[in-house]
Amino acid sequence: MHISAHILTFLFLISAFVAVKTRNIPPFLKICHRNDPNLNECIKQSINLLRPYLKTGIPALQIPSCEPLHVPQIKISESVGPVSIKSIYTDIKIQGGTSFILKSVKIDIDNNRIRLKLYLPRLEMNARYNMEGKILMMPINGTGLAHGNFTDIDVIAIIQGERYQSRRTDETHYRVIDFYVDLDVGQANIHLDNLFNGDDTLSNAMNLFLNDNWKIVAAEIKPALENTISEIFKTFSNKFYSKFSLDTLLPL
Ligand SMILES: *[C@@H]1O[C@H](CO)[C@@H](O)[C@H](O)[C@H]1NC(C)=O
Ligand SMILES: *[C@@H]1O[C@H](CO)[C@@H](O)[C@H](O)[C@H]1NC(C)=O
Repeated sequence: MHISAHILTFLFLISAFVAVKTRNIPPFLKICHRNDPNLNECIKQSINLLRPYLKTGIPALQIPSCEPLHVPQIKISESVGPVSIKSIYTDIKIQGGTSFILKSVKIDIDNNRIRLKLYLPRLEMNARYNMEGKILMMPINGTGLAHGNFTDIDVIAIIQGERYQSRRTDETHYRVIDFYVDLDVGQANIHLDNLFNGDDTLSNAMNLFLNDNWKIVAAEIKPALENTISEIFKTFSNKFYSKFSLDTLLPL
């Protein structure tokens, strides 16, 4: 009797302690231990746990919904190579980003670097566009809605950060200084509405031409798209990391 009462008290104290220690851990966070021999696997699980929260957004961190992902604007101005074009895409909505398949995670704690490999089965993009110029000698102009479906996308992300002492929490935090993204698209179908002031014959011919040559078009758009996406995810990540210290996210 006496001993089991002690054990109960002990268990109660333990669980109270655990409750206090984990009280500030929100449900979207899976904590990984720095010395976990399977740390990469643990981080993989914690990113997968984050997925539904990325779909809805995380209001507490001012992270908006990523489904669809809103990109305000992408500007492309190319004057050399096969594509000499000035184009602006605005009000871009990208659907499908949270259906990623996480293939690998490699964390390098000493160098504050995380390397991710992802696979995206499909992305659907809708935007407003305005363009003028030449693609493979063919003049192109138009303004209206742009649609694109992209499948079989391999993504490599390399997140380079640094540590700093937060004045707010008085603890060490991680901050992303460079979010490198490389997208490798397997297949694309694109359609630009209202090319050449809505001239159907010219417009249909140009849309066929664009789809036949989408790799050349995509290569021109790629750097601007990758930069824009990496800026967005750098901002999201830093909202996240500024809230939680390194000892909270990656305790010993
Ligand atoms: C993209 O896929 C959607 C849904 O399957 C389809 O309605 C749309 O026509 C496709 N767009 C293009 C440009 O292929
Ligand atoms: C757009 O292309 C059409 C057809 O080639 C041409 O008549 C028109 O002048 C062009 N508009 C601009 C703004 O370049």
